[in-house]
Amino acid sequence: FCNSKSIMWIIASLICVGLCVGEGILPAGPLNGAVGGTVRFTTNLSPPAKPFFTVSWSFKGTNIITSTNTNVTAPGYASRISLDRRTGALELRRLVPEDSGEYTVSIIPDGELKVCKEIIKKKNNVQEVLMIHSPALVLIEDKTFTNLTCEASGSISTRVWTKDGQPLREDSRVSFSINKKTVYIHPVHSSSHGNYQCLISNPVSSETAAYNLTVNYGPHNVSIIGPLSASPGRRVELRCTADSIPPALFRWTLNGNDTQVNGSVYVIERLTLESIGNYTCSAYNTVTMLGNSTVLSLRGERRYLIHHCLTKCSLPVDITSTYVQKSHFEFMIGKQVILNYRSDL
Ligand SMILES: *[C@@H]1O[C@H](CO)[C@@H](O)[C@H](O)[C@H]1NC(C)=O
Ligand SMILES: *[C@@H]1O[C@H](CO)[C@@H](O)[C@H](O)[C@H]1NC(C)=O
Ligand SMILES: *[C@@H]1O[C@H](CO)[C@@H](O)[C@H](O)[C@H]1NC(C)=O
Ligand SMILES: *[C@@H]1O[C@H](CO)[C@@H](O)[C@H](O)[C@H]1NC(C)=O
Ligand SMILES: *[C@@H]1O[C@H](CO)[C@@H](O)[C@H](O)[C@H]1NC(C)=O
Ligand SMILES: *[C@@H]1O[C@H](CO)[C@@H](O)[C@H](O)[C@H]1NC(C)=O
Ligand SMILES: *[C@@H]1O[C@H](CO)[C@@H](O)[C@H](O)[C@H]1NC(C)=O
Ligand SMILES: *[C@@H]1O[C@H](CO)[C@@H](O)[C@H](O)[C@H]1NC(C)=O
Repeated sequence: FCNSKSIMWIIASLICVGLCVGEGILPAGPLNGAVGGTVRFTTNLSPPAKPFFTVSWSFKGTNIITSTNTNVTAPGYASRISLDRRTGALELRRLVPEDSGEYTVSIIPDGELKVCKEIIKKKNNVQEVLMIHSPALVLIEDKTFTNLTCEASGSISTRVWTKDGQPLREDSRVSFSINKKTVYIHPVHSSSHGNYQCLISNPVSSETAAYNLTVNYGPHNVSIIGPLSASPGRRVELRCTADSIPPALFRWTLNGNDTQVNGSVYVIERLTLESIGNYTCSAYNTVTMLGNSTVLSLRGERRYLIHHCLTKCSLPVDITSTYVQKSHFEFMIGKQVILNYRSDL
């Protein structure tokens, strides 16, 4: 018999004349009506033994397609629709906002006068326009303020914000407008840099917009990764790192003298007495116009294994000699300095 039901955001009613073919010719799931997308009005009708005499769809009372033994298609729909003549299903492609409204299907089975009408009303859905926008400003840590606004049309029940997958919470720098439409960040911080998402939903549908916020910061945490000592002749690589947006420019000095090396890696092909000393890596950010530096003291070392003692001692003894500077040596057993030796050479 006749059916009348509302499914999620589709309000539908079935008007029947005589007996209906099958039960509930409405689709079971919600339709997705994103602009530019495709919607498929399916029916739950099984293909009958004899094809339907007529399948006809109309929109706001105007014919879209009437299919009998010939097809009458309204201009403007020919390239956007596909009709499944066996079930009466209609596919509508390249949706535009004006496609919102009531759709009616009339199906007349062959031979008998049974008419089913279905009215599908497409409610406003949230995803018609959804985006996050933010003022186009160059953001600098601790210096500038910004805001992110989550725009959407249609009925909206909730907005939920996340940053890098974690819920975004209010704190001393982050606050929301009353309806959570806007997030204020005052001022921006290095931790404000990242991917923001706004999830918008109403009882029947939800959609997400994303935005990458760029905050210029640093250089922070400038450090040199490399050995504190190495044997003469060995290759040594010192790598300077800095947390910085945009990436920092580097400059290396050795014992206060500029080295002409301006990359993040400083390579000593063969360690010599001249290459030991204090390596300073200076990092500079051209946008924040801030710099910072760090020092690594590189020593030369040589190991001796002593097999013979003049006085009582336990053998063998592993002695390391370290060049602290050109003219300053330390002899060590393990980490204990047993001799400091300075020469005027
Ligand atoms: C009418 O359209 C349907 C669905 O596209 C198609 O199967 C059928 O062959 C068409 N009939 C005529 C006469 O073009
Ligand atoms: C967001 O910030 C811009 C620039 O500071 C400002 O013009 C705009 O009014 C702010 N938007 C809101 C919703 O406060
Ligand atoms: C944000 O950045 C990530 C990583 O660079 C990228 O994969 C993603 O597409 C960007 N998202 C947006 C909305 O620009
Ligand atoms: C600097 O290092 C600390 C400790 O590892 C870390 O918590 C912090 O996030 C780093 N700073 C930046 C800007 O990455
Ligand atoms: C540093 O530069 C000065 C002046 O050119 C030079 O006398 C000195 O030897 C240099 N020091 C090093 C360790 O290269
Ligand atoms: C780094 O040094 C190379 C070679 O000396 C030079 O061509 C380049 O312009 C320098 N880059 C910067 C950012 O100073
Ligand atoms: C390296 O730095 C340390 C600590 O500042 C200083 O005592 C030492 O003399 C420096 N070495 C050279 C070769 O300048
Ligand atoms: C440079 O780094 C040190 C050590 O991390 C820090 O204490 C200092 O505040 C930094 N200076 C600047 C100007 O950022």
